[in-house]
This record gives sequence, structure tokens and C-alpha cells, in this order.
Amino acid sequence: MSVAEKQDSSDRAYVLSDSDFTAISGLVLQQSGIHLGDAKKDLVYSRLTKRIRVRKMNGFSEYIEFVKSGAGAAEREELISAITTNVTNFNREGHHFEHFSEHVAPGLIERARRGEPIRMWSAACSDGREPFTLAMSLLNKMPEAGNFNIKILATDIDRKSIQIANTGQYTADMVNRLDKATVGKWFDPVGNMMQVKKPVRDMVQFNVLNFLDKWPMKRKFDVIFCRNALIYFKADMQEQIFDGFTQFLHDDAYMYIGHSERIVGRAVDKFKSVGPTSFQYKPKGIK
Ligand SMILES: C[S@@+](CC[C@H](N)C(=O)[O-])C[C@H]1O[C@@H](n2cnc3c(N)ncnc32)[C@H](O)[C@@H]1O
Repeated sequence: MSVAEKQDSSDRAYVLSDSDFTAISGLVLQQSGIHLGDAKKDLVYSRLTKRIRVRKMNGFSEYIEFVKSGAGAAEREELISAITTNVTNFNREGHHFEHFSEHVAPGLIERARRGEPIRMWSAACSDGREPFTLAMSLLNKMPEAGNFNIKILATDIDRKSIQIANTGQYTADMVNRLDKATVGKWFDPVGNMMQVKKPVRDMVQFNVLNFLDKWPMKRKFDVIFCRNALIYFKADMQEQIFDGFTQFLHDDAYMYIGHSERIVGRAVDKFKSVGPTSFQYKPKGIK
């Protein structure tokens, strides 16, 4: 939480009562699966105060009435966007990309060269830095990957993050996390921004997708990255989503989760650990 989000309640322009907080957390849970415990009250205050100001409303009660109303559909999306934490980075938890490059990519490349389609999913991709890192990792191993049937689907509930992802443009500060050679190889300066090069962008298809909605994908995946999103969900919701992933993974496919996350529910017995928070899907049992 930022300093602004820890603001003293005496400086506050609005009052966030317990019942208003309960109404907001109920709505957020229902719309997104995100669980807002009492410790998130300051965060809710700080993030939604901005929305109340934009809407020129008197306070939380009026805002809640509006988002619950038929006319509030667009604001419900703004509410979820304001509440989601979209922190991400290029090469975040870099050991996953090292594992992928060393142990997973060679098999995928061989299969792609035999003409098989290769599908990867960055689920809860935020503004795209995760799937672009994945695409760069693959292209480093197979520069001609664009000539093969290899695609990364990248989805997030937050439309604003997906809009940024679709531009492929990031600030120099964001990009400078990568080493100079990688930046030179995969980014072009565009004005005062850095844009991911076309072969990388071409590999990734971005879509808005809420985990709670029906997943419209037709094909199973060879790799799923779902990192640092389910941590915001309660265990029962996490279970449902991990169960969902098992329906969308080929046997022996790989899944990477965030450093503080763990698989829960029925799916646990179907994943073999192949490294820190790195798994292989073994539906017929872990040998
Ligand atoms: C902290 S970011 C993680 C981004 C990236 N996976 C990473 O590890 O760097 C969590 C993302 O989960 C997304 N998210 C939260 N609830 C979601 C839901 N119900 N469906 C899809 N995405 C969701 C948020 O919008 C946010 O972009």
C-alpha cells in the first residue's frame, strides 16, 4: 500500500463506513473474485475516492447506489480497474523464464517444426510485460518462430491494462529492468517511449477476460503462466480456477504460478513440481 493509501482518517474528505466497505467488498468479490479483507479498507478508500471525484458524487453511499444500478455498468468496470493491483515487470521472477527457455522451449520448438500448433496462456497478464517476456524468451531460442504456428494468448480483467498491452509501449524506466542487449534487440524507441518490436507483438494476442466468466478458448495450452493474481482470491475461488486450468492443459504441459502462491484443491495431485512454483501437468498421476 502506498503512503497516500495509508492516509490518516482525520484528513479524509469522505467517510467509508463499515457497511459501505462491506457493500463494496461484496460487489468486488461478485464481479471479480477479488477478496478484500478489512486490511484493505484504506486501499479501497484511496482508490475509490478518485472515482467519486471523477463522478462528482457526494460520497461512498451515492457511489455504491450508482454502481449497483442499471446505469452503473461502465462504472462497475472502472471500480474493478481501480481495485485491481496491476504490478508487473519484464522478466519478473526471472527463474520461470530461465526454466522455460532451458527445459520447455526446446520441446515446443521441435513440435512447432513438425507442424504442431503451440499455444501458451498468460492468464492475468496485466499490461503485457509478462507475455512479452515469454515471447522474447521463445524468439531468443527460435528467431524464425513467427513462421510457425506459435501463439501466446494474454488475458486480464482490466481493460486499461489490456489497452496498454496492445500498444506494446512502455517507459524507459520499465524497460531498463532488462539488460541493454535485450532492449536493443527487442525494443524500438517511439517518441519518449520504448515499443516492443513487431515480431514479439505478433506472437501475443491480448483479450479482456474475467476468470469468473466462461473461458471461450477452444484449444488446450502447452504452457500457462498465472502469477500473482490468485493471491487476491479466496481458497474456494482459487480451487475453481486451478480446476479450470486442468481442463485447458495438455498432458505434460507446464504451469508457472507466483512466488507466494500454491496450487489448491483437486488440482494439487495432478501437478508435478519441476522447480520453484513451476509445475508439469500429470493428470494420470505423478510418477
Ligand atoms: C499483480 S498483477 C500480476 C501480473 C503478472 N501476472 C505478473 O505476475 O507480473 C494481477 C493481475 O490480475 C488481474 N486480475 C484480477 N482479478 C482478475 C480476474 N477475475 N480475472 C482476470 N484477471 C484478474 C488484475 O487485473 C492484475 O492485472
